[in-house]
Amino acid sequence: MALRVPAIPFTFVAHTLAVAALVLVLVWNIHFRGGFAWEATNKNLIFNLHPLLMLLGLIILGGEAIISYKSLPLKKQVKKLIHLVLHALALALGIIGIYAAFKNHNESGIANLYSLHSWIGIGVIVLYGIQWIYGFLIFFYPGGSPTLRSECIPWHVVFGLLVYVLAVANASLGFLEKLTFLESSGVAKFGSEAFLVNFTALTTILFGVFVVISVLSEAPAPIEDDQSYSSI
Ligand code: HEM
Repeated sequence: MALRVPAIPFTFVAHTLAVAALVLVLVWNIHFRGGFAWEATNKNLIFNLHPLLMLLGLIILGGEAIISYKSLPLKKQVKKLIHLVLHALALALGIIGIYAAFKNHNESGIANLYSLHSWIGIGVIVLYGIQWIYGFLIFFYPGGSPTLRSECIPWHVVFGLLVYVLAVANASLGFLEKLTFLESSGVAKFGSEAFLVNFTALTTILFGVFVVISVLSEAPAPIEDDQSYSSI
């Protein structure tokens, strides 16, 4: 779109950062926080699902869905299907991840929706859902006319990127908030867990940066392009 450089190298950096962020969040929650559970007397184990599912869902699968047009040398129709399915998975994991945070609060007698992070979080998941539904209706089924699709695509790209950047920013707020809670209950400010959480957040932000750079760079040559509009 804007940068006259091939996107592929940036997408490889993004995939690597995604794996690194996933490993870091797993090490944090399994090694330092006791692991995961859906039903448990230790309600913290239910909460631990929240950062894992939000990172894997909205951030990693959402980011991979966004860059799929730039990272895969496939036919446009196949890339469209991959984009749609990855975003659906991201949304589903995001909804389950938010439900886990509510479940932890409700079962621990903690109030819901008191923080900036939670307010932005509700905004992100609602906007993500709207973006997916309107994308599905206009570009997939039943599908708009070619004119409507080519008029909608720039809005789809800009709105999608804005929601994604907001999601990455909100995940950073979440890491900050959780680490602040932990530090006020005894976790050392310069201890290994604090560094691990901060590096997980930094890796998440860097992944978001490479997703945006990939989107702004040039897609690989299409194998077959029978559509009259450009996807991104
Ligand atoms: C884009 C990703 C994320 C979204 C959309 C999101 C959304 C939310 C929502 C809606 C709540 C409110 C739950 C309630 O009130 O019962 C919440 C709670 C919470 N989240 Fe996240 N979250 C995200 C990522 C993260 C991450 C990566 C962490 C890191 C640990 C995190 C930490 C927290 C904490 C500590 C709470 C409980 C305190 C509070 O309600 O603010 N979140 N999140």
